[in-house]
Amino acid sequence: MYSKDLFKDKIIVVTGGRSGIGYAIAKQMLQLGAKVTICSRKEEPLAAAAKELQAFGECDYMSCDIRQTEQIQALAKQVKERHGRLDILINNAGGQFPALAEYINDKGWNAVINNNLNGTFYMTREMANAFFIPQKEGTIVNIIADMHRGFPGMIHTGAARAGVENMTKTLAQEWSDFNIRINCVAPGIIESSGLDNYPPPVKQMFDEAREGIPMRRFGKVEDISNAVCFLASPLSSYITGISIYVDGAQHLNYDKMGLARVMRTFME
Ligand SMILES: NC(=O)c1ccc[n+]([C@@H]2O[C@H](COP(=O)([O-])OP(=O)(O)OC[C@H]3O[C@@H](n4cnc5c(N)ncnc54)[C@H](OP(=O)(O)O)[C@@H]3O)[C@@H](O)[C@H]2O)c1
Repeated sequence: MYSKDLFKDKIIVVTGGRSGIGYAIAKQMLQLGAKVTICSRKEEPLAAAAKELQAFGECDYMSCDIRQTEQIQALAKQVKERHGRLDILINNAGGQFPALAEYINDKGWNAVINNNLNGTFYMTREMANAFFIPQKEGTIVNIIADMHRGFPGMIHTGAARAGVENMTKTLAQEWSDFNIRINCVAPGIIESSGLDNYPPPVKQMFDEAREGIPMRRFGKVEDISNAVCFLASPLSSYITGISIYVDGAQHLNYDKMGLARVMRTFME
């Protein structure tokens, strides 16, 4: 649906690009002419994903943990050596686990905040300093979550993603001086590899919850990548600091307590 050369020769990094939503974003951007580098922690599946993605265009990879600044700097070095610049950063890497707030210990809380909030900030800051600020040009899209009305059953990721959304609003203003745009995409429940990580009762709850979503379906990974491509491209050249909810109106009308109720049945 987009023009085939929307991202012609654009240099793009997609974090968490080896699986699920990140893979779909990388694939679509390659199909639209980009040169994409994917990163994640697990080298073997990352290399395999990059090999598959090469069928669609020029795809590099590098193992990189977004929580480790030195690893991000090594990624920036590789991108600079191979391409000389970076046009677009997609902060998609992240993860969380369902749990009731009162059972989350310091380690669990810090793990999710460190990955989903700190890691996203470290990656954004490093790529801005290495590329976007000196270039006086760059575009960033952050994948967050549907935490518009809180996130019962996953308080840590709700707090982390709200932090990323607020960080986005701040940077949209501070970095407009450098011609950098930054926006968020908030997925609802998306049929992707990320859902495989949840225990069976939670998956069953998701299935039952489908009817509560105003559009009566889950999202597809392509629903997310279409929104990301819009925000990453010049089609949105006057849009910065916003979040697009890609969730079939779930953030407006949905029983947010379903996950917490299921967790009560086996955590208490
Ligand atoms: N699926 C949904 O319904 C949904 C809804 C809302 C938000 N989201 C968010 O959307 C993003 C993609 O989700 P998905 O469904 O595609 O899940 P996924 O398949 O589990 O993808 C997460 C990716 O992030 C990478 N990753 C995680 N921690 C990392 C770290 N510290 N450093 C580098 N890479 C890291 C993982 O690779 P490694 O394990 O190799 O590091 C993996 O490739 C996630 O942030 C997720 O929380 C998903």
